[in-house]
Amino acid sequence: MLRIEHVSKRYGKKEVLKDINLEIGPGIYGIIAPNGAGKTTLMKLIATLLFPTEGSIYWNEQEILSLGAEYRSILGYMPQKPGYYRNYTAFDFLSYIAVLQGIPHDAAEEKIRTLLTRVNLDPDDRKKLKNYSGGMLQRAAIVQALLNDPKLILLDEPTAGLDPGERVNFRNMLHEMSSDRIILLSTHIVSDIETLADRVIFLKDQTVYVNDTPANIRSILDGKIYAVPQDYLLPHNAKVLEEQPSDNGTILRVCSNKPLPGCKLLKPTLEDVYLMIYGIRK
Ligand SMILES: Nc1ncnc2c1ncn2[C@@H]1O[C@H](COP(=O)(O)OP(=O)(O)O)[C@@H](O)[C@H]1O
Ligand SMILES: [Mg+2]
Repeated sequence: MLRIEHVSKRYGKKEVLKDINLEIGPGIYGIIAPNGAGKTTLMKLIATLLFPTEGSIYWNEQEILSLGAEYRSILGYMPQKPGYYRNYTAFDFLSYIAVLQGIPHDAAEEKIRTLLTRVNLDPDDRKKLKNYSGGMLQRAAIVQALLNDPKLILLDEPTAGLDPGERVNFRNMLHEMSSDRIILLSTHIVSDIETLADRVIFLKDQTVYVNDTPANIRSILDGKIYAVPQDYLLPHNAKVLEEQPSDNGTILRVCSNKPLPGCKLLKPTLEDVYLMIYGIRK
């Protein structure tokens, strides 16, 4: 169990996180916020790569900074911008990481093989990382984070470079692992966690704005999302979330507190909630 208590983080005078409080048990947690909101900072605080300006983080009721190597042995961390050993092959890179983590040689080799196969990198394990595509590097980074069979897995924007097929495989992999582990993943791509996360955490104004199940979060907008023809006279407070071309002209996806007679009600998505919280950037 991971507990974050009254955690704040400032870089100089700039306050990036303010009074974060979270209790996190086994399952998949999606941390969603726009770029610059503090997702990476929060991940690094949990990974002990940064220290809170105020507050503390506990693993099974023990302060993580007091746990040292014991904490690192249960932690798997995939940074948003991994530093790569470009001249290493994937296999050699992962073997090197395994040595740093103190994993015995034979066990490491078997684990590396299993994980490389799981992410379909086994045919390319002797290729140098400098010849890998973005998606292949991302998959190697995921393997790197899972080598020590961690109980607490931190993945900072893990799906950024993946194509749709890789994304589905990645989601299945996380789902298989999630029953007895904590998986925290940050993203600004809402659809990645809509079907995957047990809970979703939205950060806003430097702190936790929403922390709930995807179904409960979507239900905030039940009865408010409509498909609306472009020439419809919208009430003053209605908000256009999306414009979609169709055979009968452009159809607007609209959030409205007032009923819109003649318009079709739609099921809300997490992306609708995201757009209502953070607005649309032009
Ligand atoms: N080392 C640093 N020094 C100063 N400001 C930083 C540093 N790292 C991040 N920031 C700032 O903190 C804010 C949050 O950054 P970050 O945690 O990377 O957000 P996100 O991962 O959500 O995009 C940004 O405004 C960023 O510019
Ligand atoms: Mg980030």
